[in-house]
Amino acid sequence: MRAVIQERYGSPDAVELGELPEPVPAEGEVLIEVRAASLNGSDRENLAGSPFYARLNGLRRPRRPVPGSDVAGVVVSVGSAVSEYAPGDEVFGELLGYRGGLAEYAATPPKLLARKPPGLSFTDASAIPQAGCIAYRATQGVKGGDAVLVNGAGGAGGALVVGLAKHLGAEVTAVDRADKADYLREIGADEAVGYEDEDWADRRGRYDRVIDLIGHRSPFRVQRALKPGGAYLMVGGHTRILFATLLAGPAAGLGAKKRVRVLVVPQSRADLEAVTALIVGGVVAPVIDRVYPLDRAPEAFARIASGDNRGKVVVEVAAPR
Ligand SMILES: NC(=O)c1ccc[n+]([C@@H]2O[C@H](COP(=O)([O-])OP(=O)(O)OC[C@H]3O[C@@H](n4cnc5c(N)ncnc54)[C@H](OP(=O)(O)O)[C@@H]3O)[C@@H](O)[C@H]2O)c1
Repeated sequence: MRAVIQERYGSPDAVELGELPEPVPAEGEVLIEVRAASLNGSDRENLAGSPFYARLNGLRRPRRPVPGSDVAGVVVSVGSAVSEYAPGDEVFGELLGYRGGLAEYAATPPKLLARKPPGLSFTDASAIPQAGCIAYRATQGVKGGDAVLVNGAGGAGGALVVGLAKHLGAEVTAVDRADKADYLREIGADEAVGYEDEDWADRRGRYDRVIDLIGHRSPFRVQRALKPGGAYLMVGGHTRILFATLLAGPAAGLGAKKRVRVLVVPQSRADLEAVTALIVGGVVAPVIDRVYPLDRAPEAFARIASGDNRGKVVVEVAAPR
């Protein structure tokens, strides 16, 4: 089968199109004919091998060479222990370990997959899983009138985070590169802040919630932007800050009952179905920046590595003839 192969960590030229044997599903797996796979910040990190958690797939080189976590496609065969899906079912979801999606076929346990709603294209469905589950978890508990800041809102996950926060009635400040300001307002932000222009952490006592997709400030610094009782959720970002937030976050906001913590987003079918119901219902929509065919997947990586994408980059895989 044709697949994107990544033999080393590095820049976008570390990925190329090649040929690999078609995976054979284990007894508890399904084999999917992939029709579309979308890229996330995690794919950019897994390409670079940084932060450290991007090397859980191999310290010196990727053990599983095919990148890509979010897929939509058609089940073509199932292992002997699988009863919930059958060949012909249209499914979408995240792959375990965030690997294996950028290929003509992917084998995966079915527990993370959901049935693709008939009205949703494979391309749109592939844009939902990781970004949707992050947005769903990160906005739990947001109330009407809350002031919410989303840091790193211009990339793969931001549109759904901003969209869900707005749906819940929040006043949303979105932070990203200054030249993405128009885009941030288009996805619903009430205010767009360029990170080159202003450090949002200097806005003392302004926010009920900060959702940080690209954390690089200490927990003691970020807590200053929170109102008493507010919460800072670190979703992604620098390794050092991840550990600092894990270890010192609980102490950082203690006096003013602020919560400063890392948000762990499980790969969850229930969350995927919940956020997809909101998308199908027209409440929010993923934003697709560009679509590339599989043989131009290295360009898709160059796009996310540049940071120029506004929303999701999707790779479409043509159905076999
Ligand atoms: N917590 C969990 O359980 C969990 C689960 C899955 C994924 N994740 C993580 O969640 C994150 C998901 O984010 P994503 O997919 O939306 O990432 P993304 O597509 O890489 O978007 C990040 C955005 O942040 C911008 N940015 C860069 N530096 C910034 C700065 N200093 N201040 C503000 N914005 C800045 C980037 O723009 P420029 O590049 O143009 O500057 C980009 O638009 C990833 O780190 C992923 O690993 C966490």
